[in-house]
Amino acid sequence: MTRRFAIPVGITATGQFYPDRVVTNEDFAAYLDTSDEWITTRVGIKERRWVEPGVASSDLGAKALQMALDRRGIGPGDLDAIIACTVTPDMLFPSTAALIQHKIGAKNVFGYDMNAACCSFLFGLTTGAAFVASGVVKRVAVVGCDIMSSIADKSDRNTVVLFGDGAGAVIVEQVEEGMGILDFEHYLDGAGAPHLLMPGGGSLNPPSHETVDKKMHFVRQNGQEVYKNAVKGMSDVSRLMIDRNKVDPVDVRLFVAHQANARIIEAVAKRLEMPMERVAMNIVHYANTTSATIPTALHQSLEKGALKKGELAIFAAFGAGYTCGATLIRWAY
Ligand SMILES: CC(C)(COP(=O)(O)OP(=O)(O)OC[C@H]1O[C@@H](n2cnc3c(N)ncnc32)[C@H](O)[C@@H]1OP(=O)(O)O)[C@@H](O)C(=O)NCCC(=O)NCCS
Repeated sequence: MTRRFAIPVGITATGQFYPDRVVTNEDFAAYLDTSDEWITTRVGIKERRWVEPGVASSDLGAKALQMALDRRGIGPGDLDAIIACTVTPDMLFPSTAALIQHKIGAKNVFGYDMNAACCSFLFGLTTGAAFVASGVVKRVAVVGCDIMSSIADKSDRNTVVLFGDGAGAVIVEQVEEGMGILDFEHYLDGAGAPHLLMPGGGSLNPPSHETVDKKMHFVRQNGQEVYKNAVKGMSDVSRLMIDRNKVDPVDVRLFVAHQANARIIEAVAKRLEMPMERVAMNIVHYANTTSATIPTALHQSLEKGALKKGELAIFAAFGAGYTCGATLIRWAY
């Protein structure tokens, strides 16, 4: 059975923001045992953006959201809720959503942070859409913002090269009949937790000199294990969207997958028999920005005219948890 909302709900505008500072593969090769060749061929990244000290996720998120509001031709006062999707909140509390609300000057909104790791934006989009579909909320901003450089160990070639900072935002509201989110499927599997995590700083391992000395405040992952599961997870759940909705794969004009490794995206596209010209790819310039990968890749695809009103797109993501999911959407504008 498809998971379709009773009221058609879709995305009506997008926005993005990246910090100016470009960090290239050569910058890492200058002090680590790595090379542009290794990073390019194994992961498909050439450069990424990193913030300067003192810039937080809410700063990036607020700018991306402001662009989405401008594109929609509305103001912050037209929002009912803000969902900030992030694994790198400004601080544990208050929520990054509250800080974004304050920065953009929204009034009379509610909101909170959503952390489903690299699926945060996808799950946040569904949550925002469900509020609108309830009929009692008109407009929700879903903002994916992460400063992954804040949790990347700068001395570890295995992880530091993979991540970037950035933000993407969408406005979610009721759309024409037959448009918007047609179906979604999302999964949680905590058995995958040991393979991708940041163990320090929470209630299990509160910050201490010991947790800092043991580098527990950085991302850790079992790369090959995550790679295998990401390819299978995103392929299977995307295939489910196609089969369950009796969609001809040829009619899927745009496939936007979480950008963790270009080889993962290519492998998923191959399994889905999706030609690469229909696959959004921004990892080469921005690396893995976690909650921001899908909304920014979507925004950039729209700028290129890759998706038009009435056409179908699939969003898919896989991340820590494990979390996994896909969403089928008919573009509404
Ligand atoms: C992380 C990842 C890029 C590593 O690529 P890989 O081909 O699996 O490489 P491996 O981990 O097997 O490492 C192979 C070798 O390359 C080395 N290596 C790792 N990073 C390197 C780097 N930046 N430069 C040079 N060598 C590197 C490793 O140390 C290892 O060396 P060894 O054989 O001497 O021990 C890949 O596994 C991946 O993308 N995994 C999934 C990531 C993901 O989706 N994360 C989710 C976040 S949402």
